[in-house]
Amino acid sequence: MSAQVSAKIGVVGTGKVGAALGVNLAKAGFSVLYLSRTPDSETVQDLCRRTGPSASAASLAEGPGQTDILFFAVVWRAAQETIAAMGDLTGKILLDASNPVIYVNGAETVGRLPSSAGEVIQSWAPGARVVKAFNTLNAKVIANPALSAGPVTIPIAGDDGAAKETARRLIEAIGFEAYDVGPLANSATLESMGKMLISVLLQDRPDAFDYCLRPRAK
Ligand SMILES: NC(=O)c1ccc[n+]([C@@H]2O[C@H](COP(=O)([O-])OP(=O)(O)OC[C@H]3O[C@@H](n4cnc5c(N)ncnc54)[C@H](OP(=O)(O)O)[C@@H]3O)[C@@H](O)[C@H]2O)c1
Repeated sequence: MSAQVSAKIGVVGTGKVGAALGVNLAKAGFSVLYLSRTPDSETVQDLCRRTGPSASAASLAEGPGQTDILFFAVVWRAAQETIAAMGDLTGKILLDASNPVIYVNGAETVGRLPSSAGEVIQSWAPGARVVKAFNTLNAKVIANPALSAGPVTIPIAGDDGAAKETARRLIEAIGFEAYDVGPLANSATLESMGKMLISVLLQDRPDAFDYCLRPRAK
């Protein structure tokens, strides 16, 4: 399969991560298609205007027909119904930013998953080419990589080499470094890294961090 990055990139979800990715992708020259429960709402139309002239929005059912690459940036409690609403995703590259966390009054309420969120999403969309990516970085830094004190690594995991190559190109196009940590089963580790970051951010400390993996000498 070609690793070429198509010009129109889908972003599923218009919250903190979706908006950050969309705006950043548009700045890098991609046209952005937001997939939303409410594509015609004033909020989503305003996000399209903020993203740029080539941005548009579509429903969850209609969006996948317009692009081959979809960032998945939806709250975990609605992940399954959102995947179902998008229909058959066979052949689509699905870049999954999910962290399987739900907080109620500060307490985490997600029970243990049978595997990682990345693998669970793959089971809900068996024909999709799922790549775990962007779950280890705060939305504010996704929007503005310069907020970090240096280079930021986006670790990626997946079972489709060409899909991971496309992910790498997109990651580099919007100002980050990519590091392939291996198969989709390694999503569990990336989700633990995401939870560690969330835990530190929830402590409201002045010394929050971003992940940067640096190569080591042999
Ligand atoms: N926030 C971060 O810094 C961060 C960083 C890395 C990863 N993540 C992960 O990325 C995913 C998205 O996080 P987020 O912070 O962007 O979440 P968010 O701002 O709370 O919202 C994400 C989007 O989910 C969609 N959604 C679909 N069904 C929903 C429902 N029933 N209730 C509420 N929203 C619904 C909404 O888009 P529409 O209204 O357009 O449908 C909403 O804007 C999560 O899995 C999160 O753990 C977050």
